[in-house]
Amino acid sequence: NITVVPEIELPGHARAAIAAYPELSCNETFLPVPGLWGVFDDIFCSKPETVQFLKNVLDEVVELFPSEYIHIGGDEAPKTRWEKCVNCRKVMAKNHLENEHQLQSHFIQQIDDYLTSKGKKIIGWDEILEGGGLPKNTAVMSWRGIKGGIQAANDGHQVVMTPNSNVYLDLMQGDGIIEPPVYETVRLKNSYDFNPVPEGVNAALIKGGQANLWSEQLFTYRHLQYMLYPRAWAVAEDLWS
Ligand code: ACM
Ligand code: ZN
Repeated sequence: NITVVPEIELPGHARAAIAAYPELSCNETFLPVPGLWGVFDDIFCSKPETVQFLKNVLDEVVELFPSEYIHIGGDEAPKTRWEKCVNCRKVMAKNHLENEHQLQSHFIQQIDDYLTSKGKKIIGWDEILEGGGLPKNTAVMSWRGIKGGIQAANDGHQVVMTPNSNVYLDLMQGDGIIEPPVYETVRLKNSYDFNPVPEGVNAALIKGGQANLWSEQLFTYRHLQYMLYPRAWAVAEDLWS
C-alpha cells in the first residue's frame, strides 16, 4: 500500500506562493519566483491573514490526500523579515512571545491545531522543535543529522530519521572528477552504515527512515538516476534489517 504524504511548506520555501500573493509576505511587495533553489529571507508573514490562507489551502489538501499524515515543512526559514515586521510584532505582543523562534512555534501550532481538528497527523522537519511547545502528537523528520531526532524522541515525539550525512542521495557519491559537483559527499558506505535507531532512544518512537533525492542540483534524469543507485539499495537494506 503506497501513500503519498503531501508537504505544504511553511513558513519558509514559500516564494512561489508569495509571487502569486505578495500580501502573504511581511513586506507585501511583488517578488518573482526564484526558479532555482535557495533559502530566502522572504517567507510567509505570521499575521492572521496568512494563517487563514494556509488553512484554506490545507482544506483542499486534506480532501485530495487520504494520507494519515500531512507534512508542514518548517525547515530553512530565516527570521530576517519577521524581526522587522509590524504585523509579526503584533502577533508576538498579543501572544506574549519573546522571540522569533517562539513565534515560529506559535505559527506552526495554529496549523497543527487546525490539521488535528481535521483528523490528520502532522509531521515537520527538525526545526519545528526550536522555540519549544511542540504538541506531543506531532512527528519530526530529522534531516540535520540525527540530533534533532534524538531530542524529539526523548521529548516523546514520533520520529523519521533522514540525516543528510547518510541518506541525502542528491549529494555527491563519488569523486568530483567523475561527477558534477553537488554541495557535499555521501559515500555508499555512509548510506549502508545508516542506523535509524540510535543507541539510547526509545525504538518504539522511531517510525523509520527516509532517503531524500532532492533535485535542485540534478538537472537531468540521467544524473538523478546515477545519484539514486546504488545508495537507494543500501538504504533499503538498512531499513529492512
Ligand atoms: C531539507 O533538506 N531542507 C529538509
Ligand atoms: Zn510579518
